[in-house]
Amino acid sequence: MNADLIIYNIGQLVTGKELPLKENESPMENIEILENGYIAISGNEIMTVGHGEVPSKLIKFTTKLVDAEGCVVVPGMIDSHTHLVHGGSRENEFLDKIQGVPYIDILKKGGGILSSVKATKELSEDELLDKAKKTLRTMLSFGVTTVESKSGYGLDNETELKQLRVNERLNHEQEIEIVSTFMGAHALPQEYRDKRDEYIQKVIDLLPIIKERNLAEFFDVFCEEGVFSNEESKRMYLEAQKYGFKLRIHADEIVNTKGAELAKELNMYSADHLMAISQEGIEALKNSKTIANILPGTSFSLGKNYAPARKMIDEGVQVALSTDYNPGSCPTENLQLIMQIAALKLKMKPKEIFKAVTINAAKSIGREKRIGSIEEGKKADFVMFDAKNIEYILYHFGVNHTKKVFKNGCLVFKK
Ligand code: NIG
Ligand code: FE
Repeated sequence: MNADLIIYNIGQLVTGKELPLKENESPMENIEILENGYIAISGNEIMTVGHGEVPSKLIKFTTKLVDAEGCVVVPGMIDSHTHLVHGGSRENEFLDKIQGVPYIDILKKGGGILSSVKATKELSEDELLDKAKKTLRTMLSFGVTTVESKSGYGLDNETELKQLRVNERLNHEQEIEIVSTFMGAHALPQEYRDKRDEYIQKVIDLLPIIKERNLAEFFDVFCEEGVFSNEESKRMYLEAQKYGFKLRIHADEIVNTKGAELAKELNMYSADHLMAISQEGIEALKNSKTIANILPGTSFSLGKNYAPARKMIDEGVQVALSTDYNPGSCPTENLQLIMQIAALKLKMKPKEIFKAVTINAAKSIGREKRIGSIEEGKKADFVMFDAKNIEYILYHFGVNHTKKVFKNGCLVFKK
């Protein structure tokens, strides 16, 4: 069979395929990198991958040939934790934040998440859609082809559903694939301060409605001291599981509330943040299918400690990296910057970092059979960087290295 498109002369082709572990390799360095690689694409899928000369049998007279000029190519990157759809921004809290007012104190005073809730209620569905599209265009320019997007800036039925409908429409109206998560348990609305159980029940009651309308695949809770306790979270998760939601969790971000342990117990797809994870939490994740989704941009932006990623990886935990893009704790679309922070601050190695934003991120959203690596039969999502090796992309920080982005076999971004 011949290809429709062939990318050749790829200096380093990170296929993202997982290889058997070699001696002295960390449990996350086992991804394949081909020197002088090529990719053959048929329609929207990867037909074959190789290195050296492109076999002539792949080429027909209509095949489009693209010279990568020795650049790096990697699988389309996946941002597996974002709060994409929201109104407004929070630069009014920025000065307080850099002067050390704690994140949770800002929230308790009705600021933080609650001020974004107000701004989100104020925008129409179309306005939210336009704002999110603009954000996604920026994400695409950084090499991101799939984004997980949570609700949670509504905290009432109408606005939560509005956010989720925006997720649904985004999937039809722009290039990036959206994975939709319901996060009605993102904060306790002020009017429910003395009626916690009532609010929790409201979230539970919304679950079947969302499922019936097919508006979200995942369910997420901010399990944190001062937000939702481990017990309250578990109560909601068990209900969500009954309706067929896949689970992920904001776990052990500021205070340890045994969120990682809960993730393992309920067989969640991912446990996210983990800045305050305990040794028991590490043990739990190590022996589970749950991906530890680390968001170092949030530590950077909040001026807080970083999750112990090095220790977790060395002990055998599988890690993903995401932006946590949101208007409060991490207002950036730039996944490359997150990867650079992961290298500089978490001491993650280049191969580990690329594994974290590709195949492991795909596992955290249950899409590893379809995306996350450049392998035969998978979707033809990949990024070409203006760099000769993966180290350069992490070392030269704060700039956008993307040269071209392909989604489903089509060129969707060009520098
Ligand atoms: O993942 N931690 C909770 N939620 C978001 C922040 C949301 C916000 O501050 O608006 C996070 O960091
Ligand atoms: Fe988050």
